[in-house]
Amino acid sequence: MRPVPTAELHLHIEGTLEPELIFALAERNGVELPYADIEELRRQYEFVDLQSFLNLYYSNMTVLQTERDFADMTRSYLTRAAAAGVRHAEIMMDPQAHLSRGVPLATCVNGVTAGLAGSEQEFGISTELIAAFLRDEPADEALAVLEELLAMNAPIIGIGLDSAEVGHPPSDFLALYERAHSAGLKCVAHAGEEGPPDYIRQALDLLEVDRVDHGIRCMEDEELVERLVAEQMPLTVCPLSNVRLRAVDTLAVHPLPGMLERGLNVCVNSDDPAYFGGYQDDNFARLQETFGFNTGQLVKLAENSVQSAFVTDERRRELLAEIEAWQNSGGADRP
Ligand code: HPA
Ligand code: ZN
Repeated sequence: MRPVPTAELHLHIEGTLEPELIFALAERNGVELPYADIEELRRQYEFVDLQSFLNLYYSNMTVLQTERDFADMTRSYLTRAAAAGVRHAEIMMDPQAHLSRGVPLATCVNGVTAGLAGSEQEFGISTELIAAFLRDEPADEALAVLEELLAMNAPIIGIGLDSAEVGHPPSDFLALYERAHSAGLKCVAHAGEEGPPDYIRQALDLLEVDRVDHGIRCMEDEELVERLVAEQMPLTVCPLSNVRLRAVDTLAVHPLPGMLERGLNVCVNSDDPAYFGGYQDDNFARLQETFGFNTGQLVKLAENSVQSAFVTDERRRELLAEIEAWQNSGGADRP
């Protein structure tokens, strides 16, 4: 299928590190990996929950040491994302996960930024960068890193909140989000992936987020669903991620079709595609296969992503026109 043109709004750049690149970077940097080969590494990709994934995700980052490493990882993602139909990407990075390993902030920020430079010309993908903060690390550390990012004029459009959710509610990060808002940054936060619906409410009321990452557990709370529908709050859903991290049992019971039907502003994203079995096009293909989504439903999901993106009106019009052209030229029915 020709992939539908979309905006990818929920993507961790460190989660695009493919096993082949992990081994290549390890060799380049003289890092010894605890796996004999790529096959042994691949055998670790069996997750029982979010934490079991995060352990491997953080461990594999040890191969990222220089600006060039971050740039290479970023360009690999863009190359694959272009083939997946992504036309605009808002990319999260986890600065604290590198700082704690002794990698300076400038190395990861400048490396990813260098990888993104020229993306529009080379790949047809416009991009933005979001600094995500680790909710299982102290909130004052997050605030200090945000201050450093602001002081160095890092080219970020906003902030996010990720890592282990349960036990680390949005309410712990009030000061961080107040600072981000005052600096004119956009605000997103993971909520309702493993955590309860109340964390989604906290993200809305306390952090005043512009989007909720995941948000699938809103479906357990009818009043919250009504509010999210009324506000058309974007929810960046990641179907293959939810299956691999066992937030849902199987794709067949994923709440996405029900969320669409309720009129929630949902879009489809790949989260950590190197770990969860696929990129945007893989997510869409599996959804089509499992739920028989037609062109109209795919267009709605793609339009939601574009409507929820942090882009100019002009870029939004261009992206919507690309989706319309895809639909007019046969949509999902044309191979
Ligand atoms: N959830 C929470 N934190 C993360 C994820 C995720 O799926 N990926 C990278 N950090
Ligand atoms: Zn995520």
